Amino acid sequence: MSIPATDARRDDHDFDPVDPHETFTSAHAEFAELRGHCPIARSQEYGGFWALLGYHEVLSVITDIEHFTTSKQNAIPKFAFTGVRPPLHLDPPEHMAYRRVINRFFTPPKMRAIAPLVRESAIDLLDPLIDRGWVDVCKEYAHKFPAHVFAHFFHLSVETSELIKRVSGTYVDAIQVLDHETVRSLSGELYAIAQSIIDDRVEHPRDPDDDLVAGLLAAEYEGGPLPDAMVLGCVRQLIVTGMVAPSVFIGNMFVHLSRDQELQAQLRDDPALIPAAVEEFLRLYSPYRGMARTAREDVMLGGQLIRKDDPVSLVYTSASRAETVFPEVDRCSLNRPANAQHITFGRGTHSCPGAPLARIMMNVTLEETLRRSAGFTPAGEPEMAMWAEWGTRSVPLDFVRA
Ligand code: HEM
Repeated sequence: MSIPATDARRDDHDFDPVDPHETFTSAHAEFAELRGHCPIARSQEYGGFWALLGYHEVLSVITDIEHFTTSKQNAIPKFAFTGVRPPLHLDPPEHMAYRRVINRFFTPPKMRAIAPLVRESAIDLLDPLIDRGWVDVCKEYAHKFPAHVFAHFFHLSVETSELIKRVSGTYVDAIQVLDHETVRSLSGELYAIAQSIIDDRVEHPRDPDDDLVAGLLAAEYEGGPLPDAMVLGCVRQLIVTGMVAPSVFIGNMFVHLSRDQELQAQLRDDPALIPAAVEEFLRLYSPYRGMARTAREDVMLGGQLIRKDDPVSLVYTSASRAETVFPEVDRCSLNRPANAQHITFGRGTHSCPGAPLARIMMNVTLEETLRRSAGFTPAGEPEMAMWAEWGTRSVPLDFVRA
């Protein structure tokens, strides 16, 4: 029996997701080369999957909930064997029961209220580092700051928040090397932390309009409360998901600015340009490449047959540099036309609810760093996180105090 033409690429192996020698520029160079001839690339790693490298390919899948689901596999490699974690693991309409609650905590008034606390956390951490001069901005800032912000956002102690950060960091590393035993035990630990947060809210009730966990406990779906196991899964997902991306993203902005002294000086002189720079860094250094969907049925995508149950990864890291949408893709431009929108926060049903908080974190980080420093330069090569994230895990810099 001959293989249908559209199926012929199933045995191809266009790329390896994990490159132990990855540099700050190597993945983007590889994706650019692949995008040119196969925007839907195939890898035989992790049991075989399609990798969507083009902007339109990613966009059409994330906005097509009829043909693609997150309920079977929302990341490559697949590891969510320990329970359903809303909202990412659910499809509509059930998904909305959780998003309705979550969305209420990222409104402009909520963001205005938390912004001064985010700034306070940034200053507390940055001040002594900039005084010192030599700093690993990832290990000493990017891996701590999100935990401090989360302590405010979720009304947790800084110790609990730092524990979540430590455990989830090791958990993400274990997923990447397919260390099933460690993943299972750390996932259990993260569930235990989530349960202890819920228990505390039950024992010491808080206003459901002021506390996200209390909001989930008070919410209703189809005439009853949200099931206990799903509230637990949701808290477990929120505390991990919201810390992973900011941690790998922050260092990227520092690498860029330490290598582009002209832009660094421009932003220091005119901080009003910082939000535009942050948007462009989000486009250039999109931190997720292994978020996934699974095809619900056979479906044609850009001339490629995707079989029922095939996993596809949404390579946001590549999509936001697609030549078809962004002129001069690799250039950092502070005035991209409004119609060239990056999709670093996703789009549609599962688009990132935390985007407004993430933007505040990034803007505040740059504002406070640039205000306090007369300059910073590279003090060594960055170390990279590996698939399924893209971004830095170590960035040594030399700071000069302003
Ligand atoms: C630089 C920072 C961040 C980036 C780039 C980012 C990116 C993303 C992306 C691309 C998705 C969609 C995934 C998909 O399509 O499968 C997503 C979903 C999500 N993000 Fe973020 N995120 C960031 C920060 C945050 C923060 C700070 C929070 C929470 C405080 C958060 C919470 C979530 C949640 C709960 C979802 C799942 C939404 C759903 O399934 O409806 N993220 N994020």
